[in-house]
Amino acid sequence: MCGITGIITKDDHSIKEDLLKTLKRLEYRGYDSVGFATNDGFFKKSTLPISDFINSVDSDLRSNISISHTRWATHGGVNENNAHPHFDKTQKVFCAHNGIIENFNDLKEELEDEGYSFKTETDSEIITNFFHKGMVKEGKSFEIIAKEFIKKVKGTFAILLIIGDGRLYALKRDSPLALGITEKGFILASDIYSFSNKTDKAIFFGDDEFAIIDKDKYAFFDKDGKNIDKEITSFEWSVEEEKLDEYPHYMIKEIKEQPITSRRLIESLKRDQANRLKEFENLIKDSKRVVFVASGTSYHASLVGVHLLNKQGIESHAVIASEFENFYLVDDKTLILAVSQSGETMDVVTVIKKARKNGAKIASIVNVPYSTIQRHSDTSIEILAGQEVCVASTKAFTNQLIALFSIARSFGYDNNLENIPDRIKETLDINEEIIKELAQKLYEKNDMFILGKGATYPIAREIALKLKEIPYVHAEGMMAGELKHGTIALIEDGTPVFCLVPGKNLEMLSSAKEVESRGAKTIIIGNKEGIEPDILLPESDEKEFSIYSSLIGHLLSYYIGVLRGVNIDKPRNLAKSVTVH
Ligand code: AGP
Repeated sequence: MCGITGIITKDDHSIKEDLLKTLKRLEYRGYDSVGFATNDGFFKKSTLPISDFINSVDSDLRSNISISHTRWATHGGVNENNAHPHFDKTQKVFCAHNGIIENFNDLKEELEDEGYSFKTETDSEIITNFFHKGMVKEGKSFEIIAKEFIKKVKGTFAILLIIGDGRLYALKRDSPLALGITEKGFILASDIYSFSNKTDKAIFFGDDEFAIIDKDKYAFFDKDGKNIDKEITSFEWSVEEEKLDEYPHYMIKEIKEQPITSRRLIESLKRDQANRLKEFENLIKDSKRVVFVASGTSYHASLVGVHLLNKQGIESHAVIASEFENFYLVDDKTLILAVSQSGETMDVVTVIKKARKNGAKIASIVNVPYSTIQRHSDTSIEILAGQEVCVASTKAFTNQLIALFSIARSFGYDNNLENIPDRIKETLDINEEIIKELAQKLYEKNDMFILGKGATYPIAREIALKLKEIPYVHAEGMMAGELKHGTIALIEDGTPVFCLVPGKNLEMLSSAKEVESRGAKTIIIGNKEGIEPDILLPESDEKEFSIYSSLIGHLLSYYIGVLRGVNIDKPRNLAKSVTVH
């Protein structure tokens, strides 16, 4: 995973203000360690949180070429030695790498035979020695060595390299990389958001392309070393950088923003994005089946999408992106519907690229504009949730559901979405204190179960995911009807079991009784006073109920997390955007 950024300018730029504050905006890609290097060989690396690292850097430190990296560890533990940038033993070639070099062991052996040594456990370190051997030891040009690298290396990479010669070098395959054109020079980064406060002009690298960047010009090449013209994209970035304001954590801020963010999307789908909704409708009508592809929370939204479209008579499936090729075949009658907050999840990107080759059309629902998934789509709805800083997705999930409801409405799902923002507010206002009290009672429990059915089955899974990733509770979200086929054996005296009961769903109530009679402590989340739920949600149909019940899960995970004293916005081992396989 990881985020990388590099700057080359006519005059010196500030490492702290220019390089590292740009890197900070890529923290969503990983926060295990951080580091930078300059053209004259100065470097600093650390496992400190990135804000603390930035504070530790001298304000006077300047350079005209610099690279930096924020890491999500894949190969090698989280420590300063494994932090990027990596360098050869003469400290001449420095590299920042996002991706995985799959055949690094073979390449390492070859380089060791040539006398090169390695001091980290990472796959990335081979890059510095590879380019040192070709460019420094053998004196060959970057073009020649980059071509060789692209040919020999298996895996994914976005790489920034400096070798102290007044240039910045870059290569890309699968992992994203963009070049921003500024008045002072050039800035390279994993996404355009990170430099959107410095320029509105960018060039996106294609796969197996590389570039040489001087302080006043750049040149792009394809994998054969042929010079290529690249289109400059002018982009508008209207999403503002998030601030905590009066909130202690982004998670609770983002949960509470939802009356506003949901309304923003509903209005946009009626007006600014009405044409995109129409494009979705046409693509669905022209296809034989819709196949959702997504990961994590976005997969749970996709499951709701399948339920909604199937109920309208449209054949739909949802497949977890990382297992797609093992479980699904795609043809030119398939519409792939990619759902992704970041628009950068590597497993999803891989599926859509392959599906395109098989003739499938691609539609996407993303939060981040200009993201890789959006750029590879035939049409795309932006969910306008605003920047989501907390690793746990909350407001984006709700807006993904609203986008899916709107698509289902084009095919006859009869529901007025206008009430949703007020009902979200009501859900939060009425239940926040109740959830705080409940969290007090439950926060020492290590196992929880959440049961759903139909539109609420994906929500049961979503709540369980939130309970795992924020307070680190082992939670299982499942189909209520499947419980008796094994999982019920885990129910003990006092095991908390949440039951999602829209209306007077008798099957759900029976499941609640079955676990209760085996000692479970059931917590009924419902919307009819008649069944006396423990947590009361606004009146709505079963599908809309999925939104309000997921809010309860988000609040509960947050307040249990607070009581457990965990790092709410940056849970251990995670990153906001999963950009490796
Ligand atoms: C959400 O709370 C998770 N952090 C995670 O499951 C996430 O939804 C998943 O990685 C997919 O990300 P995407 O929506 O950006 O593609």
